[in-house]
Amino acid sequence: MAFTVGRARGLAELLMADELPRRWCHVQSVGAAAERLGPTLGSDAELVACAAWLHDIGYARQLQDTGFHPLDGARYLRSISAGDRLCGLVAYHSGAMYEAELRGLRDELSEFPDERSLARDVVWFCDMTTSPAGDPVTFDERLGEIRRRYGDEHTVPRAIAAASGQIRAAVEAVCSPALAAGVNDPRFTVERLWSHSSSR
Ligand SMILES: [Fe+2]
Repeated sequence: MAFTVGRARGLAELLMADELPRRWCHVQSVGAAAERLGPTLGSDAELVACAAWLHDIGYARQLQDTGFHPLDGARYLRSISAGDRLCGLVAYHSGAMYEAELRGLRDELSEFPDERSLARDVVWFCDMTTSPAGDPVTFDERLGEIRRRYGDEHTVPRAIAAASGQIRAAVEAVCSPALAAGVNDPRFTVERLWSHSSSR
């Protein structure tokens, strides 16, 4: 099934808006940010926007199977014949491979392709610089919020801490080409401030 951005947005809304209103706020901001980043991505712009809108659908109760939302979301998308790249971008979003390892689900996640690309980096960037309420934040602020919400020993913050090197690399990989493409997003302001302060 070929996904358009409108179809992806509609499916995410159907699955999340009523049941998961706070996550739906987050997803709307992530999806909108990915759409703004389209000029950075050339022919992958629509694919990445679709992945951003759909990245958290695995939290929806009717999709839950393993309880690991990147995998459950990707498997659902595969079941409705979404393309391999879209399934892979959802399966591996924001360092999911680290959490899969901690949960003993690495083999299951490897059902999907993990592309190393600017497309993947943009999905990670949009997710990891958007708060649960949908506000632009730095990755450090996002990580801090996740630790406070789950507690340091929980699998989620442990996995994201383990993935933090890859996530920071993805954030940095997106900023330059996006600014060069003339994309304007408050995330670049907060990330540049973060880069400046962390280098001192
Ligand atoms: Fe997310």
